[in-house]
Amino acid sequence: MDAAPHPASDPRDWPEDVVLERIADLKARLGRDVLILAHHYQRDAIVGVADHVGDSLKLAQAAAVATARTIVFCGVHFMAETADILTSPEQSVLLPELRAGCSMADMATPDALEWAWERLSAVSPGKVLPITYINSAASLKDFVGRHGGAVCTSSNARSIVRWALEQDAKIFFFPDEHLGRITAYELDVPLEDMVVWDRDKELGGHTPAAVRAARVFLWNGFCVVHQMFEPEDIADWRQKEPDIQVIVHPECPFAVIQDADFHGSTEKIVRTIENAPAGSKWAVGTEINLVARLADRHPDKMVVSLSPHQALCANMYKIKPLSVFRVLDALAEGRVLGRVQVPGPVAGQAREALERMLSLS
Ligand code: 13P
Ligand code: SF4
Repeated sequence: MDAAPHPASDPRDWPEDVVLERIADLKARLGRDVLILAHHYQRDAIVGVADHVGDSLKLAQAAAVATARTIVFCGVHFMAETADILTSPEQSVLLPELRAGCSMADMATPDALEWAWERLSAVSPGKVLPITYINSAASLKDFVGRHGGAVCTSSNARSIVRWALEQDAKIFFFPDEHLGRITAYELDVPLEDMVVWDRDKELGGHTPAAVRAARVFLWNGFCVVHQMFEPEDIADWRQKEPDIQVIVHPECPFAVIQDADFHGSTEKIVRTIENAPAGSKWAVGTEINLVARLADRHPDKMVVSLSPHQALCANMYKIKPLSVFRVLDALAEGRVLGRVQVPGPVAGQAREALERMLSLS
């Protein structure tokens, strides 16, 4: 049964608990036709209405097996694109705020990548495999699919990079320099064998000889949120709380990951803290909504943000309960709002690169 109408008829004036009640009513009405997926960085109210919450890999896997006709993706644009690629043409994926992008994904464009690839291929003999972090536009996944490469996430980057190294190939890793570096380094590629590819410079800013000598090319992209964490933050916490443990996301700079006790995807961070003993102390180097939720959910442990600054992903934060209400309300009236649809020719090769990732995960 529908709840009684709220006296304020403009949903923008409704208090949040009313919006959340309406979302619950609409979910009950739409039933199995709708599945709500949410990334760990979403605000608590969104996590509360989601059917599944996870990291990029877990959410891509959930989309790939979903049977609902509509998936409402509470995350950022590349995640909704990935879900669209992995679902059937009869299913639709909706992003409640189409402006929710990812600034790291925007640091690699198809044109810049084609230019880099062309120049690299002209000077470097032998096989080069492109690997794109899932935080990239569908057009980049399409590029990777066309060149025999694979997509990776923060939780499976190791398997994907190992797969490429085992083929005796050089690796062109984009757009996140930091994830590429730590992953290759932990697979025994020395730092001297990696070069940062400056996307604005001819040959990435290197001589042909340096390009020929390198084994791993790291696109100079980064996450503005994780770039905030510094080795000094770790030193400060260790001084204040000598028995604190530090866990960070692999989008953090190399020096931060080196000084931390653990690193891993958002899902790994969640599981590590869940499974830690009562009384343990944690400084967490990732987005603040997730860190605050972990602190609330584990009052028997000390969970703090590694950074004294507000490490907020402004894009993830764009999705509000009202945005989800609007999308569901329109659906209940037979209208589709916020659809993300990857054009067929791009989706085909991008799907190949994603399926390679899923099979190697
Ligand atoms: P995860 O896949 O670890 O959730 O990371 C996604 C992301 O965008 C982190 O900034
Ligand atoms: Fe993109 Fe960084 Fe936000 Fe993750 S935290 S979605 S990488 S901007």
